[in-house]
Amino acid sequence: MKIIGTGSALPSLSVTNDMLARFLDTDDHWIQTRTGIQQRRVISKESLKELAVKATQNALDDAGLTAADLDYILCSNIANNYVTPALSCIIQGEIEATCPCLDLNGACAGFLYALDIAEAFLNSYQDKNILIVCAEEPTRFVNWNERSTSVLFGDGAGAVVVTKGTNLKALTLTTTSKVDVLYYRRLLENTPYAANAEGTEPLVMNGRDVFKLAVSSSVADIKKVMQEASITCEDVSYFLLHQANIRIIDSIREHLSQSPDKFPQNIEKYGNTSSASIPILLDELSRANKIKSKSMLVMSAFGAGFCTGACAIEWD
Ligand code: COA
Repeated sequence: MKIIGTGSALPSLSVTNDMLARFLDTDDHWIQTRTGIQQRRVISKESLKELAVKATQNALDDAGLTAADLDYILCSNIANNYVTPALSCIIQGEIEATCPCLDLNGACAGFLYALDIAEAFLNSYQDKNILIVCAEEPTRFVNWNERSTSVLFGDGAGAVVVTKGTNLKALTLTTTSKVDVLYYRRLLENTPYAANAEGTEPLVMNGRDVFKLAVSSSVADIKKVMQEASITCEDVSYFLLHQANIRIIDSIREHLSQSPDKFPQNIEKYGNTSSASIPILLDELSRANKIKSKSMLVMSAFGAGFCTGACAIEWD
């Protein structure tokens, strides 16, 4: 595959750390030093669907395509207000596409899982153009009365259009079932046979365990894709990491003995936007003309599951 268009969209409301400190027992210094986050975009007036459609339209425009040119829509999303139909079906209707649609939930690593599925579809079927749109609203499932998770997340959507090509040099995925470290459960309807004993619970996270898993898995995944692609760190122009925590990114960078300029970031502005974080970052770099043609990009993400993934892809 090769990436031929990128797009992104963010909510208009920017919530600073000081704004959070007005109702949570937290402060700007703690959040910045522990996470690198200064502010995050939070859905207020707009909907996730609108952000997803905007990111999609930007990616299509960038690729010089219309919705009619799409052969498949893959949407990475953890949760939105529709359990069914899939968000990709809703996006399809809004942009007036007619292709098949599929949602996937690879948590914060969803973009890498979607790239893998797209690559398989491009190789197996007659598909030419596939839209991958990552649309996430984690602020709608964290506990806003509790400081440990609510300060970390932001909402947003990032999209790419991919087509046939030879630019994807290697991709690896791992899943290791570890439900307790990071989960979000929804309320089940009562039935005559099963009452809802537990109910909805906002996102639960063991931050320290997630931190360690994130660093070790990302370093291993990055080394694996570099080996499979027969490249070294020196061949890589940028490492685009899931924007979860600046200390996680720094720790991975130190394990690889690389300089900070190879690890672009936007976590300070947007917080953790889950699977949307890498495509949003990619879109920002692309639109700022910061990625030269033929540059090697290594992407790496990790999240609930525990799902992780990395890829090495040459910029077209
Ligand atoms: N503001 C102020 N203090 C806070 C706080 C907040 N928002 N959140 C936690 N604290 C406090 C804790 O209560 C604790 O206080 P104590 O020492 O009195 O018990 C102290 O800060 C240290 O907490 P700890 O959990 O050890 O901090 P940490 O250095 O591990 O940082 C995270 C916490 C969540 C930032 C960090 O573990 C992390 O980023 N983990 C990965 C999370 C992640 O990326 N998740 C998504 C993956 S896709």
